[in-house]
Amino acid sequence: MAGRIQDRVAVVTGGCSGIGLATVRRFVAEGAKVVIGDLSDERGAEIVAELNGEAGGDVATYVHVDVTDKTQVDALFQTAKDAYGSVDIAFNNAGISPPEDDSILDTDLEAWRRVQEVNLTSVYLCCKAALPHMLEQGRGSIINTASFVAVMGAATSQISYSASKGGVLSMTRELGVQFARQGVRVNALCPGPVNTPLLQELFAKDPERAARRLVHIPMGRFGEPEEMASAVLFLASDDSSFMTANTFLVDGGITGAYVTPL
Ligand SMILES: NC(=O)c1ccc[n+]([C@@H]2O[C@H](COP(=O)([O-])OP(=O)(O)OC[C@H]3O[C@@H](n4cnc5c(N)ncnc54)[C@H](O)[C@@H]3O)[C@@H](O)[C@H]2O)c1
Repeated sequence: MAGRIQDRVAVVTGGCSGIGLATVRRFVAEGAKVVIGDLSDERGAEIVAELNGEAGGDVATYVHVDVTDKTQVDALFQTAKDAYGSVDIAFNNAGISPPEDDSILDTDLEAWRRVQEVNLTSVYLCCKAALPHMLEQGRGSIINTASFVAVMGAATSQISYSASKGGVLSMTRELGVQFARQGVRVNALCPGPVNTPLLQELFAKDPERAARRLVHIPMGRFGEPEEMASAVLFLASDDSSFMTANTFLVDGGITGAYVTPL
């Protein structure tokens, strides 16, 4: 049986871990060819070997890319075109959440800038690289990873992270509107807290902070990467064909809640 994105070509940044990796696996399971862009070369080689081995053919490619570097990002998308013939899906997902990004009172300019580069400038570069391919084809789906913190404030602040995700959300909305009549859809995935290395590292240092956040989630648990992959697949596929410029919240009910269950 054909998959939901059979023979489409997808680029996934940050595809070696967490939400990106779960999405890479789901995309391949649904018939896509995937180009992973990440910094984790060893892990990338293992993932690609595993996926190609399981499929018995060439379904996945790994490219070393720092998403803050324009030349490397352009080369990533060109690789998808050269290796598999098109760029149908761009999941611009790589991001960081370093501990030195905290309250505005304690976060220095260097930490602020680093997070803006990796989380926001990267999405600008990836969209800029993906769009010409998609406009030429007259078809494409871009999914940018923002966060629920793009629409809500937290007293446990990571000031540059939240600001970067607000930027990703606004940029996504604008691009979705601009290219709506040219066959290219652009949507933002806004995950709630998800059980990935990014969150685990952050909370391992501060269990009290983790507990404080958990209390605000109506479902009473963090999300799993596979649950995000299902949402990304929906946005990537024709199942979401009337959706663009959307704030797609997958957050266990956080943004709908005033008082959570005991
Ligand atoms: N985990 C959460 O709770 C959560 C919640 C909301 C949003 N998000 C967002 O989801 C995205 C994925 O997060 P995750 O939790 O899966 O993180 P993760 O740390 O598990 O994975 C991130 C991946 O991005 C890669 N990466 C980091 N910097 C890079 C760079 N400069 N160039 C290329 N690759 C780079 C890492 O090597 C890693 O493989 C991020 O944008 C994050 O902000 C995560």
